[in-house]
Amino acid sequence: MVNQLTLIRPDDWHVHLRDGDALDTTVPAAAKYFGRSIIMPNLKLPVRNVNDALFYRQRILRHRPKDSQWLPLMVLYLTDDTSKKDISEAKKSGFVQAVKYYPAGATTNSASGVTQLERLDPIFNEIQESNLILQLHGEVTDQNIDIFDREAVFIDRHLRRIKEKFPELKIVLEHITTSQAAQYVEENDQYLAATITPQHLLYNRNDMLAGGIRPHLYCLPILKRDIHQKELIRAATSGSKKFFLGTDSAPHVSETKESACGCAGCFSHHAALEFYAEVFDQADAMHHLEAFASINGAQFYQLPLNKSKITLVKEPWTIPEEIPFCGSQLIPLAAGMALNWKLRLP
Ligand code: DOR
Ligand code: ZN
Repeated sequence: MVNQLTLIRPDDWHVHLRDGDALDTTVPAAAKYFGRSIIMPNLKLPVRNVNDALFYRQRILRHRPKDSQWLPLMVLYLTDDTSKKDISEAKKSGFVQAVKYYPAGATTNSASGVTQLERLDPIFNEIQESNLILQLHGEVTDQNIDIFDREAVFIDRHLRRIKEKFPELKIVLEHITTSQAAQYVEENDQYLAATITPQHLLYNRNDMLAGGIRPHLYCLPILKRDIHQKELIRAATSGSKKFFLGTDSAPHVSETKESACGCAGCFSHHAALEFYAEVFDQADAMHHLEAFASINGAQFYQLPLNKSKITLVKEPWTIPEEIPFCGSQLIPLAAGMALNWKLRLP
């Protein structure tokens, strides 16, 4: 039985740090585990160009703990007005790694997202030419498409076409939630990969809805049936290079989630790596955790692997019921639950 595991320091390829006071909590939490984190650009005023990214990056770095080498990797937010110049300047900056597509109205702070994906072809072409990464929030938002089908419909309606038209565009299908997504990515070429969150590996829609609504499990794309959860576990733990860690940790103060119209998002950075360790251990696949957490993503983004290492030990602990956040509190993912794995702090 494995009781300890040392791995190359992992990276988080998808996180929401927010801004202002939130950075007091989110930046040290990211720096505790990760070498680098891909910072989602869906602020109240989204990160639309290289200047926005530069100033946001500076605000983030002011919160980095003194002894930490952690680096934020910045992302531009696509709008209907994004220009080719925005993309080429992002590439030149050296600190913007990717461009994020949110369909307008899909999720938190997505009002400025894209209204007609087909009109982005010239921008997709520029992203392909620049060798930046296109990150997709892969859901359609039509009112007549059931919320549980939105990811699968996105693949059929949009992703297949994008893949055909831009064969060398590097795409990450973010936070996949369905067997259709896992299989589509797995069977596709080396230009397509996917991130997988801890909540989609640990839970299914029964956990969120049976016996009472649990708003702290509400995130987007929404948790699906257990058959999809099982397929995600299989894909993540398979050793395939196409899947990697993206926590999608997305904090909201508890009042905004425990509400008549609650916000989407789960905060998971209090146990970011331990959650994945739990899943990989249960699947008897601890030997694949390092590739998923520390290698596959860096290779896809064409970045060097981190030089330092971290160690996980098998040592039971209990997740706190709440965490102070922005003058209030948030309820962390799996609050009150016992975990078997723990990061060994230096
Ligand atoms: O659940 C989610 N929360 N999904 C997203 O796409 C956005 C995120 C957030 O920013 O809260
Ligand atoms: Zn996200």
